[in-house]
Amino acid sequence: MRKKIVAGNWKMNTTVAEGVELAKGIVAKVNEISKGVTLVVAPPFTHLASVAEVLKDSPVCLSAQNCADQPKGAFTGEVSAEMLKSVGCCYTILGHSERRQYYGETSAKLVKKIALALENGLKVIYCVGEKHEDRSMGNHFDVVSSQISEVLFDLTPEQMKHVVIAYEPVWAIGTGVTATSEQAQEIHAFIRETIAAHFGEKVAEDTTILYGGSCKPSNAKELFACPDIDGGLIGGASLKADDFIAIAQAW
Ligand code: 13P
Repeated sequence: MRKKIVAGNWKMNTTVAEGVELAKGIVAKVNEISKGVTLVVAPPFTHLASVAEVLKDSPVCLSAQNCADQPKGAFTGEVSAEMLKSVGCCYTILGHSERRQYYGETSAKLVKKIALALENGLKVIYCVGEKHEDRSMGNHFDVVSSQISEVLFDLTPEQMKHVVIAYEPVWAIGTGVTATSEQAQEIHAFIRETIAAHFGEKVAEDTTILYGGSCKPSNAKELFACPDIDGGLIGGASLKADDFIAIAQAW
């Protein structure tokens, strides 16, 4: 059975002290959301140990925003999947469009990263999504289909149980422009069909597919009511505990 998830991607925001306060604010209100909804927070690497401490007796899960494409060794500045597991992460986000765009994240690198994350017992929130020009040329299905086939199709059905897909159209990220629920549902259904065609109906039915891109309390309800939208990956609105919780109350 697929899960309902609301995940907060804090990106490069908050100091450690602010992050700890934010996590405390979320934990304090977690009993205000339905038991069937999983909350995940993804602070920067520097905050993980302190935030893990805040989350430790709560149902809120810890995620990283990225991991290295190598297991260990002389890779200055990198953080391995094993390290993330050891600090208490359950998840890592991979393939975020900001990493694809600014840090040269390629499909080949993402294949390695996902393998290492899964080997180390992390679940993966794998991000896909088209740019504005792709959509205006009608190429969004092809772009998303390639992002899925190039990176996920060598996984086993068993491994896919640990992969969540986040559809985040680049034109909706941090812009205040949200995909309409029709646009989002259409491509979420397409993602599920793409998974079904390769891995079978059962895997596709069980795959959690999140929407991300200017999702906020005022539009979450309409988006999450769509049959193929299983929750959200939230940027800006995840930096306020009240907004993040309000989004998770959208069902
Ligand atoms: P915003 O919610 O700020 O648009 O960011 C979405 C996002 O990129 C989450 O990963």
